[in-house]
Formats: sequence, structure tokens, C-alpha cells
Amino acid sequence: MSATYSQPAPAKINLFLHVTGKRDDGYHLLESLVCFTAAGDALSGELRDDGKITLAITGPMAGDLSDAPSEDNLVIRAARLLQQETQTPLGADLVLDKRLPIASGIGGGSADAAATLRLLVDMWKLDLDADTLSRIALSLGADVPVCLRGQTVLMSGIGETLTDLPEFPSLPMVLINPGKPVSTPAIFKAREEDAFSDENLWDVTTHYQSGAALAADLQDCGNDLTLAATSILPEICDILNALAREEGCLLARMSGSGATCFAIYDTNDQAEQAAKTIASAHEDWWITPTHTLSEQAKTLSNIGASFPD
Ligand code: C5P
Repeated sequence: MSATYSQPAPAKINLFLHVTGKRDDGYHLLESLVCFTAAGDALSGELRDDGKITLAITGPMAGDLSDAPSEDNLVIRAARLLQQETQTPLGADLVLDKRLPIASGIGGGSADAAATLRLLVDMWKLDLDADTLSRIALSLGADVPVCLRGQTVLMSGIGETLTDLPEFPSLPMVLINPGKPVSTPAIFKAREEDAFSDENLWDVTTHYQSGAALAADLQDCGNDLTLAATSILPEICDILNALAREEGCLLARMSGSGATCFAIYDTNDQAEQAAKTIASAHEDWWITPTHTLSEQAKTLSNIGASFPD
């Protein structure tokens, strides 16, 4: 029996997201503090020696991807691109356990593409340098390089420049999505054209000992896409209010282009209690208590390393 390879695809959270400019090709320049959570999708796979790539999708959100052509799936696109770039004759049978809502601002598709690259570099025993892999990642999407890194970083450029930060504390968190997909290009389009944030507002040398200290500094840096997203989907305001009302909430904010919002709580118990209370009033929302990955996530940057639960 052939070995099964596996890789986690953690949700990506933009603790803040500033739009600092716009390039001639239409892409926006961003500055964003990005971290990852224990909640995520998961990818597994077995080796094929005939070059074929197959993908089966399981999990609670699999149905939301069933109508899309499989050629568009970022897992398939990432696998084909890696095959092309390396001219490997090998293939893979892949299984994506889809647990995150799609088109939701927490990087689901990008995290899946990054997990595919990690898994196949390991399975196919590819000897690729980090720059080549980052270039392949960026060509799949602006958020794929940061998902490939998989640890708390300051992201800039359109997503390709990643600055390492001192170790962050693990943050108790709740994620909520209203169950309605949001189009990233539509949100970027809906924002005020000429409004840009200043650059370099985040001190990359600060060593945070607690979530409370981090949340306090995050008050000065927001998500520049929130206004545009709430104008398209006002329910995002209801989510932010629901998160902020619960005991122990240190910060409630939207991630990426939405519609998923997150809140940081003082303790894991408070995060779990908040998730329970909000779920009892909003059965139609996807609600997950989780925590951000700190030390463990560093294993993600060692291509092929497995990931502790
Ligand atoms: O790169 P990705 O496919 O994830 O981006 C989706 C869309 O989001 C882009 O086509 C663009 O309209 C918008 N975007 C942007 N600036 C970024 C990232 C995404 O304008 N830095």
C-alpha cells in the first residue's frame, strides 16, 4: 500500500489590512499583519506514477464547491503548475477536506493551494528553492505566498513580501461567516478609489507577551476593506456587534475582503462561551471557536513537515 501524505491548510486571518496604493495592473498594494488558526481545511494524497492528478472533496463545505469545474479548483491548478514547472512524470490522488467557507476572506482557496504545493514537494521529492516556490505560489494568487509561509508575518506588496516578526502569543479566537460568499474583486472595486493608508504603521520589532497588548496596538490599524464590504453585505456589522458584545472580547474585526469576521478573546474559555452564545441566536452563521497558531506553525515553513493538532 502506498504512503498517505497530509498537510493542514490553516485559515488565514488578517489582524489588520491596510490598502497603501494601487499598481498599474489594478492590483492593490497592501500592508497586513497575517496569522493562522488551528481551524482550517486539510489535504491528503497518495502518489501516482502515471502523471494523473485527481481530486476528491469531502467535508462540511464540499457541497459549495461541487458546481465549480474541477479545473478551476486551486488544488488542481497548483498541482498542474508544479508538474509543469518541474517536468515531473509523477501524479497524485488528492483528497481535500473542505471545512472553511468558500470566498470568505480567510484564505480557504489560497490555503488549499499552499498545502498542495507543500504536500507535492514532499511526495514528489522535489528539490525547489524557496524563491521558485514563492514565484509559483504568487502566480496562483496574491495570498498563496503568505499561506505557504504559514506563520505570523507582516505581508506587503500585493502579498509577495513577507517580513518575519518576533514570536506572537497564541490568541483565543472566534470566527464567524454569514454563509454568503463575497467576491474579492467586487470589494476592492467598491472601496473609495483614492483613499490609501500610510505605509509602515506597524512596528515589526515589538515582542508581544499577551493578546491584550497586541489587541491594544491593533486598535490603531484597521481593515481598509470593511466599509466597502459592509456596503455590499450589511450583515457583517451584525457579526461584528455580536462578537464585540461577548465577555472577554479584546478586538472584533473583519478578515481580508470578508465576509468572515474574527474576535480575539482574553481566554479560550471565553472564546468557546462566546461561540456557543452567538450560535444559539444565529443558526445560519458558521461559527468556530479556535486559536491562532504560534510556535507550531513554524513547522509549515519546513516543506513537508507534518503539523501537530
Ligand atoms: O490574487 P487573487 O486571485 O487572490 O486576487 C483576486 C482579486 O482581488 C484580484 O483579481 C484583484 O481584483 C483583487 N486583489 C487586489 N490586490 C491584491 C489582491 C487581490 O486588487 N493585493
